[in-house]
Amino acid sequence: MSKLWGGRFTKETNKLVEELTASIGFDQKLAEEDIEGSLAHVKMLSEQGIISEDDGEKIAAGLKSVKKKLLAGELEYSVADEDIHMNIEKFLIEEIGPVGGKLHTGRSRNDQVATDMHLYLKKHTKETIALIESVQGAIVEQAEAHIDTMIPGYTHLQRAQPVSFAHHILAYFWMLERDKQRFIDSLERVDLLPLGAGAMAGTTFPIDRERVAEILGFQDVYPNSMDAVSDRDFILEYLSAASVMMMHISRLSEELVIWSSEEFSFVELDDSFCTGSSIMPQKKNPDVPELLRAKTGRVYGNLMSLLTVLKGLPLAYNKDMQEDKEGMFDTVETVMGSLKMLAPMIETMTVKSDAMRAAVNEDYSNATDIADYLVNKGMPFREAHSVIGRVVLYAIGKKKYLLQLELDEYKSFSELFDEDIFEVLAPENVVAARNSEGGTAPKQVVKQLSLAKEKLKV
Ligand code: ARG
Repeated sequence: MSKLWGGRFTKETNKLVEELTASIGFDQKLAEEDIEGSLAHVKMLSEQGIISEDDGEKIAAGLKSVKKKLLAGELEYSVADEDIHMNIEKFLIEEIGPVGGKLHTGRSRNDQVATDMHLYLKKHTKETIALIESVQGAIVEQAEAHIDTMIPGYTHLQRAQPVSFAHHILAYFWMLERDKQRFIDSLERVDLLPLGAGAMAGTTFPIDRERVAEILGFQDVYPNSMDAVSDRDFILEYLSAASVMMMHISRLSEELVIWSSEEFSFVELDDSFCTGSSIMPQKKNPDVPELLRAKTGRVYGNLMSLLTVLKGLPLAYNKDMQEDKEGMFDTVETVMGSLKMLAPMIETMTVKSDAMRAAVNEDYSNATDIADYLVNKGMPFREAHSVIGRVVLYAIGKKKYLLQLELDEYKSFSELFDEDIFEVLAPENVVAARNSEGGTAPKQVVKQLSLAKEKLKV
């Protein structure tokens, strides 16, 4: 029996069972975390006198040399050794002999794997946060350059009211800000140490969990050993924060796809972020935002999958939980890859201010302003709304925009109209007039920008 747990068995494991139960194919991504956790554990074991100082040093040196060999690609994982934990223990014993078998004293793979995952997610949550900030930085940069650039603002994808382009893209800054806060908040719960919970009930050895937490940089330990080995909420939190963020990224991506179409022509994505067609030589496709939009699906899928795996599981550890890993790795890689792409794509895109401006000139999105004009002259808003509805209908019939109607034509709808209506209707004034807090007027956008920069501390 070559298995680390083979003592109780009289038969070899069925090969198919070995393949089904093995996680080494994917949990080898936890190798560094696993060794880091083991180094802390062995240090504590020897400090507590649970193993001798001498053995502690041998094991620590052995672990370090296993790590070196692993990084150099000199060791080969084996499916027969099931997972990353047993593979590394096997390497260690091969490296330093039977004394390596003392490493697992007072510990179980259950608290070990949970610890590895906490270490992994804590590190990657911090990296995710930094990447979100780089996208926010790219948005701020574009916004700063386009406070006075006007674009039609839409509701129902129908032109509604003109807005500053900076205002439009800053909306995504705030979505990402909330996303970032969700990840920051999740750190609180990922920053707990499960190790020391043993298989589920604790251990008979006089371990010092606080000391291990201190060595590994965790702010606290799980207070309940059964919860410690069976909690996967911290992964669900990453997956759910990631899902909401990918939903935001998919919305921004959709806008980039629309804006870069010939019909809109509001932005041009840099050549280095586009691809061509194998048959139509004229084409420049926005594959990157299309893929970011699509990748949202697998992140949602990973969240649904883990929620379903965990549903109805009795305490404490169950092998089902091994299914937590692939979705987590896939999500972390998808999310970080998407954010890495997004920042330079936003930075390098060309904003076609003239085309945006031309669109603003050729629509009826200043209609609300005529209504507000009449309200300021004393007409109740509901009545003004109906008057302007008729003005718009009339203008469409005449194939004219609102700025192109004569004063006489306006006066035929209401005596309250005067020469100053034309000033009110100029797009610059339409935008500048929305000077309420959080509105699109340049004054407000400047304020908003400085708030955004404060969040980034740039
Ligand atoms: N590979 C396992 C996992 O990822 C490690 C824990 C195994 N524990 C056990 N009692 N079989 O969940």
